[in-house]
Amino acid sequence: MPEFQTLPGFREFYPEDLARRNHVFRLWRQAANAYGFAEYDAPVLEPLDLYRAKSGEEIEGQLFSFTDKGGREVALRPEMTPTVCRLVGERAGSLKRPIKWYSIAEFYRYERMQKGRGRCFSQFNADIFGESGPEAEIELIGLLIQCMRGFGLTSADFYVRLSDRNLWVYYLASLGLNDAKTSAMLSAVDKYEKYADDAFKAYITEFGSLDEGLKAKVLSFLKINSLSALKALIAEQASSEKLTARLADWEKVLGGLDAMGLSEFVSVDLGVVRGLAYYTGFVFEAFDRKGELRALAGGGRYDNLVKKLGGPDLPAVGFAIGDMTFGLLLEERGLMPTIVKAPDIYVVIGGELERKVAFGAISSLRALGYSVDYPFKDLGFGKQFKAAAESGAKLALIFGSDEVAKGSVKIRDMAVRSEEEIARSELESTVREFFSK
Ligand code: HAM
Repeated sequence: MPEFQTLPGFREFYPEDLARRNHVFRLWRQAANAYGFAEYDAPVLEPLDLYRAKSGEEIEGQLFSFTDKGGREVALRPEMTPTVCRLVGERAGSLKRPIKWYSIAEFYRYERMQKGRGRCFSQFNADIFGESGPEAEIELIGLLIQCMRGFGLTSADFYVRLSDRNLWVYYLASLGLNDAKTSAMLSAVDKYEKYADDAFKAYITEFGSLDEGLKAKVLSFLKINSLSALKALIAEQASSEKLTARLADWEKVLGGLDAMGLSEFVSVDLGVVRGLAYYTGFVFEAFDRKGELRALAGGGRYDNLVKKLGGPDLPAVGFAIGDMTFGLLLEERGLMPTIVKAPDIYVVIGGELERKVAFGAISSLRALGYSVDYPFKDLGFGKQFKAAAESGAKLALIFGSDEVAKGSVKIRDMAVRSEEEIARSELESTVREFFSK
């Protein structure tokens, strides 16, 4: 057992693990490029105040925070949203809108450890700034789906649950709840799936009681899972113009996603309200269909955050996918490839004299962009051919004493084991031709 181990919840990436993570990141980048998003990055360490009261109580309690040597209170970032708001806010005047940005970065939360949750994880974040209409939601939910479909996952594997904090706020207002009761009720709704009736405990503690009729109405709203059910309930129970008007935005989002051919991936589900403090409108979360894993991704509209952080009034929508649950889903579905890193060429070297000649060739082939490997020490040919085969290289070059003396080199196609002797001056063109086939 080594004396020093990784901290609980932190991961190490051996080359084969990193190859898998890189594969995931590469396909996420590909999806973001296809949707016309630009990549950005930002510091890992931020002023603690950036998260205080902005991310919400849950994240605040999970911060890795400390006082630095200059006496500043700082925190490792638990999420990207406040940071990207600051970045965009600072240059909002000069950025072309809509601003479509994405990043892939590492985050830190002191969470209770469970399957698919760690204390250090990566997220793909995508956000759109400067668009207040539901067109931004369509684009982002489309990108979220593409980020998962790109790996071969289908609507049988995952889906996006779409909900709306505006609808909730208008609905609770129509039931007579004030702001304080509304926010306590939303927090109960957020916890309902996990804790059932216990989710209302905090509400009851704060306000003394919970009327059974009100609870029944909240529960029936929470269980709405289609646009038609939503329309029916609004027509029948609620007398709010705002609620009725909001239905037009819903039709736009669902209609847009349908026209993109994505409706099979999206479910109306008012049971989702999201725990983070800053969301203001549509909210959504992606889950595996079997319901075995924790959330794969989450996001929504947060129109007030840029301004709250000192920037201009700028509407915003975004989401983040985490790499941990998503990796588990890919593995369960057999969609995580085993990536084997093999050189293109393995060079077999006769002895010390031949090594010098071989080094020249190795150097120029590497400069051309080929991945070339060779044994560090003099070994018998048998061992070197074994190493060449084990390396997975497609081509072996043989610099034996006869070849070097003649100014030639042998070139072996490892797949068919055919060998050919060529002049050293033809090496680069022959290799190029081989790899262009
Ligand atoms: P979030 O729901 O806190 O949202 O996180 C998004 C995703 O990150 C989760 O669905 C999960 O996959 C992953 N995640 C979160 N915490 C952990 C953890 N401890 N271990 C492993 N994975 C985790 C946000 O972070 C928002 N800032 C997303 C957003 C972007 N909203 C607007 N723009």
